[in-house]
Amino acid sequence: MVGKIYGTGSCVPSRVMDNNDMAKIVETSDEWIRERTGIERRHIIEDETTSYMAGQAALRAVEQSGIDPAEIDMVIVATSSSETIFPCAACEVQKTVGAVHAAAYDLNAACTGFVLAFNSAQAYISAGIYRTILVVGAESMSNMIDWTDRGTCILFGDGAGAVLLRAEEGTPVCMAAHSDGIKGEALTQLSRHRKGWEQEENKESCMHMDGQAVFKFAVRKVPEIIEEVLEKADAKLEDIDYFVLHQANRRIIEAVAKRLKTDLAKFPMNLEEYANTSAATVPILLDEINRKGMLQRGQKLMLAGFGAGLTWAACLFEW
Ligand code: ACO
Repeated sequence: MVGKIYGTGSCVPSRVMDNNDMAKIVETSDEWIRERTGIERRHIIEDETTSYMAGQAALRAVEQSGIDPAEIDMVIVATSSSETIFPCAACEVQKTVGAVHAAAYDLNAACTGFVLAFNSAQAYISAGIYRTILVVGAESMSNMIDWTDRGTCILFGDGAGAVLLRAEEGTPVCMAAHSDGIKGEALTQLSRHRKGWEQEENKESCMHMDGQAVFKFAVRKVPEIIEEVLEKADAKLEDIDYFVLHQANRRIIEAVAKRLKTDLAKFPMNLEEYANTSAATVPILLDEINRKGMLQRGQKLMLAGFGAGLTWAACLFEW
């Protein structure tokens, strides 16, 4: 059995900060940010929280699926920025959608989180343990960044995306995942959360990133893992309809497409609107292309996530 996507959903805060707004906070410019990253705007929380956005995205996925929430066996939320450590965000989502029979837990693998959660859900389904699983990626990155560090604060946004999987007969999902803890220093975040993005104290608890190290890691490891998954699946690059990659930086995605000698048109992007929402980028993009009518049953999709840890993961499945 494989987990077919029956519904997708997303939720982003209504407050928008464009690059010119960022230039009022740190010494930067719209031109610099667009040229180096492709980002134009990001959505930033006001009263919203990670678990609120996760719940709203999940409600939309459940609604689109037409599945009774009582049939959901498991809820997994990929996040590293929930407003509470416990109860976990997944239990909040369970409550919001009325998944009264589900087991629920959070998974933290930074920007790779959603793809790992999706792979975990597929493993439960293919093993016959569960039939219906809600997988969510949700983040409030604005609570974690140092708003005085122009090297990082311009890169991130907040939001959530969700997919509802239901077991069906079908082509097996093929997956791979890797980690390299030795290189973990490239991207770190202490667990002491700050209260709000305006507060500038406790800088040591904010995210620290070696941008160039992360960039080099991503452009090398993402093509490698895509090729690894293709080989496992006995598939070819040309078979893939869309590569849905973590939306960190347009230049990373362009470099991956170039290394794979694949048309950039097969790499949908929305980072210009939402920036890097960490574990939420892949499900937000999936929801967007789904609701635009770009996806048809039988098409082959490759998901790939990469980020802190270092961690990276990919999977190939039929829509
Ligand atoms: N505005 C203007 N100038 C800036 C800014 C900014 N926002 N940020 C840095 N600069 C300056 C630097 O101070 C530096 O100035 P200097 O030459 O006078 O010292 C100059 O620009 C070049 O800095 P670099 O860090 O070398 O710039 P680079 O081209 O590497 O771009 C960036 C930085 C965009 C962060 C890039 O390294 C990158 O995208 N890395 C990938 C990291 C990433 O996407 N992380 C997301 C989290 S992890 C994940 O999701 C995988």
